[in-house]
Amino acid sequence: MRQTVRPSKRIEGTITPPGDKSISLRALLLNSISTGTAHIANLCVGDDRRSILRCLRGLGVPIRLHSACPITQAEECFEVRGQGLDGLSEPTSVLNVGNSGTTMRLVSGVLAAQPFFSVISGDRSLRSRPMDRIVKPLTLMGAQIIGRDEGSMAPLAFRGGTLKGINYSQPVASAQVKSSLLIAGLYAEGQTIIDQPADSRDHTERMLSAMGAAIELNGPRVAVQPSALKPMDMTVPGDISSAAFWLVAASAHPNARVRIESVGINPSRNGVLDVLRAMGARIRVENVREEANEPVADLVAESSDLVATEVRGDVIPRVIDELPVLALAACFAKGTTVIGDAAELRVKESDRIRATVEGLSSLGAAGIEERPDGMVIQGGQRLTGGTSESYGDHRIAMTMGVAGMLANGETVVDGAQAASVSYPGFWDALQSFGESDREVP
Ligand code: S3P
Repeated sequence: MRQTVRPSKRIEGTITPPGDKSISLRALLLNSISTGTAHIANLCVGDDRRSILRCLRGLGVPIRLHSACPITQAEECFEVRGQGLDGLSEPTSVLNVGNSGTTMRLVSGVLAAQPFFSVISGDRSLRSRPMDRIVKPLTLMGAQIIGRDEGSMAPLAFRGGTLKGINYSQPVASAQVKSSLLIAGLYAEGQTIIDQPADSRDHTERMLSAMGAAIELNGPRVAVQPSALKPMDMTVPGDISSAAFWLVAASAHPNARVRIESVGINPSRNGVLDVLRAMGARIRVENVREEANEPVADLVAESSDLVATEVRGDVIPRVIDELPVLALAACFAKGTTVIGDAAELRVKESDRIRATVEGLSSLGAAGIEERPDGMVIQGGQRLTGGTSESYGDHRIAMTMGVAGMLANGETVVDGAQAASVSYPGFWDALQSFGESDREVP
């Protein structure tokens, strides 16, 4: 699909972004291995949700949609009938998790401990992403896993077994790897200890603790003991990674004001607020409250005079998915922005360093340069518009869409349907934001 985006004269509106993808996937998976029934409202939308639902149903977990939620106050919710740690059944076919790296890595933590055979695979992008980062530590715990290229790529085949706890120092901060090992640790003999080089998102820790797991947090160290999980009813907070597109749209546009409601602002996820504020963005955080053991707030962003900044070091895991759209913001900021220590971007749904640099350059960004672990962006320029592509990556598609709202001329985004991985309503929302007389869906 090719999406045409025209420059917006004004960007204005109020929106509630879809449910947080990271929290939703954890809520579905952890409740599937809990000992009762849970109701989950405001679940994420899009292809990744479909992928994990298919995968969990393939493992014998009954999950159904209620159009009127009997527990939470939401209109609809998903009911997950947990099977307990040991109640999953051997899948009769390959578990296909599409584009969802989080699903593959987290579910692998469960499959590693099952007394049955299973195979997990995904789409072409996911089959080219590194899986040795989970295969190695899970194997150290006693799992039997084989995969392509010496076990470094999917499809991965599991012949489960008895796991034992390990003490693992993560070479790279990764919430997916940490979560996979914590989940495997629920099944392992003894304690599983993970040392992180920098804090990554802690949704798994928060959820495990609310579900009654024996989990201990001590600075960068997380430890879990074998534990049964209680089910957890919840309303998932809105996704700050989806909100980030509107935060940047409003901050970089000369005539804008947007309000984004019910957004998760977990400190291990909200680096985008810190970076945008360091760039001079006028963002207010209002009505801070708690949902699902996570902090939630409403965000208001307005036109701002942006200045360049440096984004590197410990903030990187807290802002990893927002770096492409922050690079776009940097095009409008006075001075030279440097993004470093972010080589992980090269192994996301696409090589996001290359995709961002090529995409923004094709829309007229003059001084944007690729570095092995990031990019350097000369700001204070206007984009001309033009044709860019999504590289099959949802966050690149949406970054190019927002670039189109901010550019002087028309922009075409090729492969725009990729946005549906996490935000199927994105293009409608973009159009409504750009025409202030329409209601934002
Ligand atoms: C995620 C963690 C991050 C992030 C991804 C979602 C998660 O990946 O990029 O989109 O839900 O745990 P890494 O843990 O590989 O950094």
